[in-house]
Amino acid sequence: MAVRVGVLGATGAVGQRLIQLLDPHPDFEIAALTASDSSAGKTYRQAAKWRVEGPIPEDVAETTVTATDPDEVPDDVDLLFSSLPSSVGAEVEPAFCEAGYVMSSNSSNARMDDDVPLVIPEVNADHIDLLEVQRDERGWDGAMVKNPNCSTITFVPTLAALAEYGLESVHVATLQAVSGAGYDGVSSMEIIDNAIPYIGSEEDKLETESRKLLGEFDGAELSHNGVEVAASCNRIPTIDGHLENVWVETEEELSPEDAADAMASYPSLELRSSPDQLIHVFEEPDRPQPRLDRSLGDGMAVAAGGLRESSFGLQYNCLAHNTIRGAAGASVLNGELLLENGYL
Ligand SMILES: NC(=O)c1ccc[n+]([C@@H]2O[C@H](COP(=O)([O-])OP(=O)(O)OC[C@H]3O[C@@H](n4cnc5c(N)ncnc54)[C@H](OP(=O)(O)O)[C@@H]3O)[C@@H](O)[C@H]2O)c1
Repeated sequence: MAVRVGVLGATGAVGQRLIQLLDPHPDFEIAALTASDSSAGKTYRQAAKWRVEGPIPEDVAETTVTATDPDEVPDDVDLLFSSLPSSVGAEVEPAFCEAGYVMSSNSSNARMDDDVPLVIPEVNADHIDLLEVQRDERGWDGAMVKNPNCSTITFVPTLAALAEYGLESVHVATLQAVSGAGYDGVSSMEIIDNAIPYIGSEEDKLETESRKLLGEFDGAELSHNGVEVAASCNRIPTIDGHLENVWVETEEELSPEDAADAMASYPSLELRSSPDQLIHVFEEPDRPQPRLDRSLGDGMAVAAGGLRESSFGLQYNCLAHNTIRGAAGASVLNGELLLENGYL
């Protein structure tokens, strides 16, 4: 029987992607949609300005959106996907977990809390059991797992593939699509014919979340990886797909050929939304590119290319679809991991 799920922040850019992925999902059935008070009481069709490809799924379109309040969500909903603004998430997500709901959240609040698993299943699936510690410490019947920021998800799988060589330092420069800021995030007058070399708080997220993801969980505590990470973030006028330039210094010697092999052979998982191949490595020096390569693996794969030696160690480019692999798809994958690990 399918697990009944709800989407918090269902009318937003990530919420719409969540609905697109959850509607045909064989293990999940959409049973609750929430948004702000101004959307509550409307049908989803009236409340959401639908902007993803294809029509709104018919049964979702006629569902009534409720306020984002634990009392408004039916008790028989077992899993919530949250795509709320982080200020709202910080306020309401703990109340849902206290009320017994298990949550896979995309919002940035609480990602770095010691007892909150921050998970990319192919990289650190074992961190999910930090939920036992969380439940002990917070006394929740529910639980909260987070996925990282969209630009963190893009480069961390490639680092995980290289970890056996001993990661010493990483420099990453991002070229991020406008959808990452939400529909109203960047005005067309600002971004057309332009690039903006600043995205508030983004650099800190790449630097801290990557070390948490690559850390070790011993069953009681999580220690963060000691690799040094320095990030520089830029917004550019692409719609979807974050492209990143990465420089990695390793303890052991690492040739571009060995790095390409390590990335191409890095294992995916057998969760429903896992891509067959997690990291596609291009030989062409001008790939990956956002428009051409963001939909690899139905938007759940990471692409890498341009692997070469540089005076700062190995250099390469990587790319992922920011609202699928970097947001909605990442939350769905964590939902599948919760299901597989008996948390639902
Ligand atoms: N876009 C991306 O690529 C991306 C990637 C990774 C992470 N994220 C994170 O995902 C979250 C959502 O981003 P987004 O781009 O989808 O934002 P968005 O398009 O602005 O959508 C926000 C959603 O939250 C609801 N909401 C706003 N204020 C609320 C309140 N006070 N109470 C209850 N619900 C409220 C909105 O409902 P109404 O329609 O009723 O206003 C809407 O459903 C953010 O935390 C963001 O940082 C986004």
